[in-house]
Amino acid sequence: MIIAIDGPLASGKGTLARALAAHYGLPHLDTGALYRATALQLINKNIEPSNESEAIKAANALDLSLFENPELRSAKTGAGASVVAAFPEVRKALYDFQVNFANQEGGAVLDGRDIGTVICPNADFKFFVVADANERAERRHRELLEKGEEIALETLITQIKERDERDSNRNDAPLTMAKDAHLLDTSGLSIERVIEKACAIIDANR
Ligand code: DC
Repeated sequence: MIIAIDGPLASGKGTLARALAAHYGLPHLDTGALYRATALQLINKNIEPSNESEAIKAANALDLSLFENPELRSAKTGAGASVVAAFPEVRKALYDFQVNFANQEGGAVLDGRDIGTVICPNADFKFFVVADANERAERRHRELLEKGEEIALETLITQIKERDERDSNRNDAPLTMAKDAHLLDTSGLSIERVIEKACAIIDANR
């Protein structure tokens, strides 16, 4: 069974993906980590993520050890990830890894921005997770504070709007809901309730 989960930053898609993977005993890939690792490779070398040729090189020689690096989750790396993700050649370099992960025996859960549309168009279940922008900023603010990263809430709201704008309006694989995806609005819902809703959809149709 392949489960594809897409949605904007801090919509709850990552938490839902991890929970569904644990519940159904499936491996999980957070595809944003691939774009983040690409950006972090550049940041670590003092290269701007907007440097297209260097971004393509980094994506083609991805350093998977960066997945464990605490900087992977920083706001700076996230912003850089959104920039490198707009380059079609970067997306191409990361495509096979994701498709192979999805098509492993038994299936998998993947979350990102283009999973239901580009990476796994034939997924058994697709979810598009959304939440109110201010609530997403507050969630992300709490997450970053827990990791010791202090950032003003207002700055985050601006960053989230910029990121939504760039991820949704790029030409290649923009963040869009697949026609056959289930829309899950997590605004005001506990994560338990969101997981319950998703499991109910899966269990009724598998
Ligand atoms: O989900 P995240 O915040 O870790 O993702 C970081 C950036 O990576 C996001 O702004 C856009 C990009 N991304 C993408 O373009 N496609 C994906 N499947 C996953 C992430």
